[in-house]
Amino acid sequence: MMNKRTPLVLGNWKMNTLPEEGRLLARQMVPIIKDGLHRRVEWGLAVPLTHTGLLATELRGHALLGAQDCSMHERGAYTGEVSAAMLSASGCDFALVGHSERRQYHGETSIQAGLKIRRLQEQGMMAVYCVGESLEQRQSGDYATVLQTQLHEGLQGEGLSLDSSALVLAYEPVWAIGTGLTASPEQANEVHALIRDWLLRNRGPEAAAAVRILYGGSVNASNAADLLAGPDVDGALVGGASLQIRAFADIVLSAC
Ligand code: PGA
Repeated sequence: MMNKRTPLVLGNWKMNTLPEEGRLLARQMVPIIKDGLHRRVEWGLAVPLTHTGLLATELRGHALLGAQDCSMHERGAYTGEVSAAMLSASGCDFALVGHSERRQYHGETSIQAGLKIRRLQEQGMMAVYCVGESLEQRQSGDYATVLQTQLHEGLQGEGLSLDSSALVLAYEPVWAIGTGLTASPEQANEVHALIRDWLLRNRGPEAAAAVRILYGGSVNASNAADLLAGPDVDGALVGGASLQIRAFADIVLSAC
């Protein structure tokens, strides 16, 4: 059965490209994707902060502009941090939160991710909350518990919006990020169904029906269609391949 959620494909450029290179990449992607779309698919790019000004102009009216992180604080003496309000004022529509590289290299926790989700939603932005298990956790069979804890800690408390334009979840098994190892379509859909079931039990049927769950981890132009075919897979979060014009366009178009 087709679900009613609009497919969403997001690129994550990580710390790649200089601003002008990024602008050229986006400029070439936009018309290819625009010409190929034959049903509603949302797409967007999470870019380095230095690129947001240029990219806001390139993507306006075509795609969503995003950051790769945001501060959990509203404002103040937090050297190096960028607030959700600043991102919004720079033209960002969304930000990634709790990406495994932030968890791994910057010690970010799910509780902190939860605060960031709130800051983004207060600005009317969409939070893309990333969850996923490590290789050891997958091999020990513990992954369901790990994911449930990440969901509980990141999405706890009153007042969180579970609207499709306010919250997106991304399942990114850590062992599949940048490794060339991809979860099989069955593995991906199994976890997506588990996440949707968590939403149903903990946040009710409306949230379970609305929230989009993206798959991320070595998605490329050859495996995207199979991964996206899962009934609980609503799109993709794409790292490496989002820096390649044709590959990324093909991935977006495979969500049609
Ligand atoms: P990858 O990265 O597609 O290069 O594996 C995905 C991500 O980190 O979001």
